[in-house]
Amino acid sequence: MTNKEPTSRFMRARCCLPVDATPVWLMRQAGRYMQEYRALRAKYSMLELIQTPELAAEVTLQPINAFDLDAAIIFADILPPLIGMGLKLEFVPGKGPVIHNPICNPEDIDQLGTPPAEEFLTPTLEAIKIVSAELEPRRIPLIGFAGAPFTLASYAIEGGGSKDYAKTKALMYSQPAAWGILMEKLVTVQADYLLKQAAAGAGALQVFDSWAGLALGKEAYNRYVAPYNTRLFEMLKPAGVPVINFSTGTSPYLEDVAACGGDVVGVDFRMPLGAAWEKIGFERAIQGNLDSMTLLAPWDELKTHIDRVLDEAAGRPGHIFNLGHGLHKTTPIDNVKRLVDYVHVTTER
Ligand code: CP3
Repeated sequence: MTNKEPTSRFMRARCCLPVDATPVWLMRQAGRYMQEYRALRAKYSMLELIQTPELAAEVTLQPINAFDLDAAIIFADILPPLIGMGLKLEFVPGKGPVIHNPICNPEDIDQLGTPPAEEFLTPTLEAIKIVSAELEPRRIPLIGFAGAPFTLASYAIEGGGSKDYAKTKALMYSQPAAWGILMEKLVTVQADYLLKQAAAGAGALQVFDSWAGLALGKEAYNRYVAPYNTRLFEMLKPAGVPVINFSTGTSPYLEDVAACGGDVVGVDFRMPLGAAWEKIGFERAIQGNLDSMTLLAPWDELKTHIDRVLDEAAGRPGHIFNLGHGLHKTTPIDNVKRLVDYVHVTTER
């Protein structure tokens, strides 16, 4: 422990220390709603952007240079670690991610590798070095991230996005031993990747469990997911940086999600912040939770939703303003700018 208190708003809020204004960053803050991003995407594929450190660094900084954000998030995706494990990933324009050789049975799970991050993910680690060096003097923390085991397993088994997670749940319920091996392999790969992101300069880490809550109820979550998430958060402790535990659709059992670990709990838009905070305990920082789609409304309407989130946080230290999920690609730039400035001005202390 050092007796030096953190200075950035983000780092102070995550320790539940008082701040001069509420810190704000936005999931998917780099992306297609920005003209600068679309211009680069016209020349390079999604994977080319991620796998070229200078380009990934440039995209990461686009929203930082356009808005007064309190944290950056490295431009990458949760799915590339699956490439290293042996899966053939493609981002298909207009369709999203596709895995051409999805996992079908326990033998496929036995075949999966668990290579160290530097074998397949060096470009992202390099991009983190570039961006963290650039942002350190500006005292803006850079967030590294990875997918949680369930969310990654669902892509690996479904071969892409899914509405009902039928294949994933069929394997989980009927082959529990193989499911355990798959989840353990994912924990190994993700823990290694996240620890190396922190070593490369990420000042915080976010674990995205985007789909567990949409797929599973409380009992199944605690049996098939929680032990692995708990192990992952435990393995991240030596990183020495704050870890954000983000999930969606988990309101009915948010206390179980929070019990898995993480210094900050990310909350989706489905539950008021105050109620979420009561479930996880007020000594833990909370991140969220404006519905991203409110940014598609005119400013006067959007403002009422921002006010509600700020009212729910009740001016407590320990609130990091964010969305309940990622920014939509049709979001007007002006609404993003006004949102960030409005949160700062309204919460100035
Ligand atoms: O937040 C940020 O600014 C960092 C960048 C980031 C991306 N993906 C860039 C991206 C992050 C944190 C992610 C995480 C991610 N990726 C998640 C978890 C977060 C969440 O949204 O729940 C998931 C489930 C994925 C998988 C994924 N990647 C999907 C389903 C898609 C298609 C979505 C779509 O809108 O087309 C992607 C592609 C993707 N990842 C884009 C971006 C900017 C769009 C790529 C493009 O076509 O330019």
